[in-house]
Amino acid sequence: MDINHTDLEYLLKEDLKSCNKEHDLLQVKSKYLGKKGLLTSLFASIKKLNQEERKKFGVELNNVKNTLLLLLDKKLDSLKVTNQSTIKIDLDVPPRHHNNGSHHPISLVIKRIENIFLKYGFDIHDGPEIETEHYNFESLNIGDNHPARDMHDTFYLNNKLLLRTHTSSVQIHAMENSAPPFRVLAPGRVYRCDSDPTHSPMFHQIEGLCVDTDITFSNLKWILNNFISDFFDNKNIKTRFRPSYFPFTEPSAEMDIMFNNKWLEVLGCGMVHPNVLKNVNIDSKKYSGFAFGLGIERFAMLAYQIKDLRVFFENDINFLEQFKNIRLS
Ligand code: PHE
Repeated sequence: MDINHTDLEYLLKEDLKSCNKEHDLLQVKSKYLGKKGLLTSLFASIKKLNQEERKKFGVELNNVKNTLLLLLDKKLDSLKVTNQSTIKIDLDVPPRHHNNGSHHPISLVIKRIENIFLKYGFDIHDGPEIETEHYNFESLNIGDNHPARDMHDTFYLNNKLLLRTHTSSVQIHAMENSAPPFRVLAPGRVYRCDSDPTHSPMFHQIEGLCVDTDITFSNLKWILNNFISDFFDNKNIKTRFRPSYFPFTEPSAEMDIMFNNKWLEVLGCGMVHPNVLKNVNIDSKKYSGFAFGLGIERFAMLAYQIKDLRVFFENDINFLEQFKNIRLS
């Protein structure tokens, strides 16, 4: 049906009579002025006319457009006024259900460990995940051809930069940036080219470092034993320290805990190697220190009885929801 532009005003007025909501008004507006609206298609037909007719028709159409817009505006104003007085709020309606998220078990374990070490006067430190060989290896007494480099399965970004393979690099940043004594706790992501049910290419560690005058291995044992009983909330967990080797600690040890009648390795530790102190200009005759590094996933698996480490990285809602009621505090 061809519609004459002179009829549009009348037609719109008719349509507006049955318009009671803003939503209806928008529909009516688009019937006339939308992409395929009645007026819009008349505008489109202009191009079929000759020069003279075009001018005249264009002016007429613009006048119609202004009239229609005015009518629509007026109607909108009147709807706003009437609706304001008719909106009823039912205060008894129950609120919408909010599905609160949960903290990730890795975050929960980091927080739990931080809280324990904060009690012992440690400060939380952060360090870069992209490192140089200097911070990840050399300053930690892992020389260029040291076999320990192979054990780290390093992801190199180019021939200068790499993804840190352990949080021990933060020891160096922390010691470079201020003077002893230090009590540093550094949680964070680390990366190694390794993937199976017990290894993920990205995982989390917490590094501990304490440097002061007269720090001995017994300070290290005392603090780690206390940490284990605090973390598992059980004073009777058996622990043992086995001799081990890390280039940046001497002597070095691995700590095992007795879990379900089996010894389980939970962390590496030792006395800070004098070369490491020398590398950050700390006098190793005056100062000594201990350091330790633990895998957070391992602690989370023990705390929450999780068998496969990959669940931490899959973000399955059913898994994560189980941690809903545990608070980060
Ligand atoms: N950086 C070692 C690792 O990733 C752990 C460690 C930290 C050992 C500090 C001793 C002292 O295995």
